[in-house]
Amino acid sequence: MAVLLLGTIPPWVICATSASEDASEDRLIGKSLADLLLAGEAVVSRSQERIDDPKLGDKGLSGKALIEQARDIYRTTTGIDPLSVDPASRQGRLLRVQMDAIVEVMDANQATINAKGTGFKGFIPAVFARLVNEAFARRAKGEAEVKVTGPPDRIRNRKARPDAWETDVIKSRLLAPDWPRGHAYSAAVETGGRPAFRVMVPQYYDKTCLACHGMPKGEVDITGYPKEGAKLDELGGVISIILYR
Ligand code: HEC
Repeated sequence: MAVLLLGTIPPWVICATSASEDASEDRLIGKSLADLLLAGEAVVSRSQERIDDPKLGDKGLSGKALIEQARDIYRTTTGIDPLSVDPASRQGRLLRVQMDAIVEVMDANQATINAKGTGFKGFIPAVFARLVNEAFARRAKGEAEVKVTGPPDRIRNRKARPDAWETDVIKSRLLAPDWPRGHAYSAAVETGGRPAFRVMVPQYYDKTCLACHGMPKGEVDITGYPKEGAKLDELGGVISIILYR
């Protein structure tokens, strides 16, 4: 009976429906991984002065403490507690993998963060994000990847360089004058010989970023890199998510 019923539906209808449902779920997963990474970065950013205070020892930024604050920010941004997402779903599973990666990175860096007598410690949001993404890739075991990249002329760390597909999306979409601000770009695209769904979430410079990435161009910032001469609201980076299918 069921077979007969299925047989009456042209196969392309079934394919089209399931493909677009997959895409909207994958877009949601990509966006939520970007939002949680940004929430973690925001906690590091607002704790920066404390982290770099040479007189303070324990900064109260254990993995557990950071994840609690990041969950709060994520809840404010998205209206959802990441821990309330069904762990049996791909979104719930990957969000938990990312939370575990965040805890791992914070716990592994306690000695640096809590060192007394050192001011600037180099533990900044971009470094936090890179370490979290590396831990995430290890834990997700080839199922998904998260990377922070950006326009090629804005790249500091070689590891962050955009690949050919990312470069094209940044140039032809995210940097296009008519691209709606803040909108993510996503597409099903084979990556490394595997079928994948990719999501590119744009990030724009705010005032806090310009201390390091702003003017005057070429002046060395506190981290030792020359400033890019960027301006407020320009596209500064992209959180690039790959979900392998
Ligand atoms: C304290 C200085 C500082 C501030 C403030 C800062 N950045 Fe960065 N940023 C860096 C450094 C250093 C790196 C390279 C990190 C690494 O080693 O991976 C970096 C890397 C990045 C990257 C990854 C690409 C790359 O070149 O490695 C992006 C995207 C980025 N920053 C965007 C921003 C945005 C957006 C803000 C504001 C919300 C910001 N940054 C604030 C210093 C800073």
